[in-house]
Amino acid sequence: MSARLAGVVCVVTGAARGIGLAIAKRFAAEGGRVACLDVSAARLEPAVAQLRAEGGDALGFVCDVGQRVSVQSSLQAVERDFAAPVGVLVNNAVWARFQPLAEIDEDSVNRMFSVGLQGMIWTLQAAAPQMARRGGGKVINLCSTSALQAMPNAIAYAALKAGVLGLTRAAAVELSPQNIRVNSIVPGMIGTPASIAQFDAATMAERLAQMPLGRFGEPEEIAALATFLASDESSYIQGASMVADGGWTIAST
Ligand SMILES: NC(=O)c1ccc[n+]([C@@H]2O[C@H](COP(=O)([O-])OP(=O)(O)OC[C@H]3O[C@@H](n4cnc5c(N)ncnc54)[C@H](O)[C@@H]3O)[C@@H](O)[C@H]2O)c1
Repeated sequence: MSARLAGVVCVVTGAARGIGLAIAKRFAAEGGRVACLDVSAARLEPAVAQLRAEGGDALGFVCDVGQRVSVQSSLQAVERDFAAPVGVLVNNAVWARFQPLAEIDEDSVNRMFSVGLQGMIWTLQAAAPQMARRGGGKVINLCSTSALQAMPNAIAYAALKAGVLGLTRAAAVELSPQNIRVNSIVPGMIGTPASIAQFDAATMAERLAQMPLGRFGEPEEIAALATFLASDESSYIQGASMVADGGWTIAST
C-alpha cells in the first residue's frame, strides 16, 4: 500500500469501532500517526491495541466530543504526545436514536446533537489552529444519506446530518485562507454492527432490494474515500459532500 499520509497526525473521532475504526486502520496503513478518540474507554483500548499490533503508529484518547473542555484537552494531548500538530481531522463520532416523532425525548435529542453536530464544532475549533501552524490540513465530516432522502423515524437524525452539510460548507469557506480543506462523506447503508442492529430482518431485506449495487457498503469503502479526501490527491476539492451509497439515493429520488 502507498503511504499517502506518511508522518501526518490524523485525529479520528469515534474510532473504537465501525467506520471510525476502519478509517483509523486505513490511515495507519497509509503511514499516518493516528489519534483515536472515543468516549468508550472499554472499546478504545482493544481497538488501539489491535492497530498497534498491526504495526500502526496509533494512540488512544478517551474524549467526549460533546464536551468542549474534553475536546480541547484531548487535542492538546494529541499534539503533545505525537510532538506534532494535527494535519487531518475526521469527525465520525455519533450517538443516534431513531424514533417516531411522538416518542422523541429531550435527552436523546440533546445527546445526538451534542455528539454529532456540536462535537464537530469543538473539534474544528481545537484542530484548526494546529493545522494553520503546520501550513494547512484536511477535515472530513461524516454525514449520511438521511440528509438527502426521507427515512422513517429519522427526523432528529435527518436534521443532525443536514446540519453537517451546512457546517461543512461554512467551515470550508472560513478556513480556506488557512489552507484547510473541509469536506464531508455521505454514506448510505454501511454494514457496521450499529447500523445492522437498528433494523429487523424484513427491513434489512427491503433496504437491500433498494440498492442498485445489490449490497450494503463496507466500512473499508468509506475509509478509502476518507483516505482520498485526507490526501493531496483531492487538492482541489473544497466544501464538497461526496456520496458513497451504492446508487441508493439516485435510484430513490
Ligand atoms: N453505519 C452506517 O450505515 C452509516 C450510514 C451513514 C452514515 N454513518 C455515519 O458514519 C459515522 C460512523 O457510523 P458507525 O455506524 O460506524 O457508528 P458506531 O455507532 O458503530 O460508532 C460510533 C463511535 O462513536 C463513539 N462515540 C459515541 N459518542 C461519543 C462521544 N460523545 N465522544 C466520542 N465518541 C463517541 C462510540 O463509542 C463509537 O465507538 C457516523 O457519523 C454515522 O452517522 C453511518
